[in-house]
Amino acid sequence: MKSLIVTGGGSGLGKVIAEHAVESGYRVGILDVDEEAVQTTANEIDLPEKVIPLVASVTSEEQIQNALNAFEAIPDAWINNAGIVKFGPLLDQPLEDWRSVVDVNLTGTFIASRTVAKQMKDKGGGSIVNLTSINGISAGTNSGAYGSTKSAISLLTQQMSIEWGKFGIRVNSLAPGLIDGGMSEPIYANPEFRKIRTEKVPIGRLGLPSDVAAAVLFLCSENADYITGHELVVDGGIINSIIANLPRPSSVDSVGLDGD
Ligand SMILES: NC(=O)c1ccc[n+]([C@@H]2O[C@H](COP(=O)([O-])OP(=O)(O)OC[C@H]3O[C@@H](n4cnc5c(N)ncnc54)[C@H](O)[C@@H]3O)[C@@H](O)[C@H]2O)c1
Repeated sequence: MKSLIVTGGGSGLGKVIAEHAVESGYRVGILDVDEEAVQTTANEIDLPEKVIPLVASVTSEEQIQNALNAFEAIPDAWINNAGIVKFGPLLDQPLEDWRSVVDVNLTGTFIASRTVAKQMKDKGGGSIVNLTSINGISAGTNSGAYGSTKSAISLLTQQMSIEWGKFGIRVNSLAPGLIDGGMSEPIYANPEFRKIRTEKVPIGRLGLPSDVAAAVLFLCSENADYITGHELVVDGGIINSIIANLPRPSSVDSVGLDGD
């Protein structure tokens, strides 16, 4: 049976990725720093032989190693999904907030990836998928270190892919857009912001955690065997719509249409 570990699997997108992975036939390790969330999610999935609860922080090499030992198998896939955000203007952001976001998102992705890659190398290969964000492609106001960590994870993904390709390890990133769930729940619980944001998405709807889960599992699958170092954007087109959202006077828009 194929196996996969998802960090931050206790809630939000990680929980849905875990559920989809179980449905797709994986034995799944649900790794999270929140012990209660790990247990609740593992109980909800209710397939004890396929779900392994793992309590660990991605910021600790020792805890990640212990979690891998407890999993009792070298996973075929590892999903670096754990992530945090601390909102606030850069001018006022406490340094400890900045550092904690860098520590979990960027350093945590590095620690976990390196720890599992050493084992995947011995096994002859594997797949690592790193959750980034469209906020790592285009800056957002008041999102502190978040966007910078996501951008850095994209480059780290490329670096890991070129260093570890010879070991059969593929490393890709996945940038979700406006997702109706997880850490964005408070935004979309507000009807006004929900409407404004939904109208901006070219495909006409918010993304679902299941959209992200399906794309993650694609990147782990044999169908993605020749894809590595790539960032897959899962955003209904919004990252490409910046120019489309800038109005032009109709006199300019019509130039050239009638041979002028
Ligand atoms: N929800 C969105 O709209 C959205 C959009 C773009 C990208 N993302 C990315 O998707 C990923 C999942 O986000 P989410 O929305 O599900 O967030 P979430 O807050 O709902 O869940 C994050 C999970 O990570 C866990 N976690 C936090 N620190 C940890 C640590 N040190 N070690 C292990 N686990 C830890 C938390 O306990 C929690 O269960 C994140 O990387 C996030 O940046 C989310």
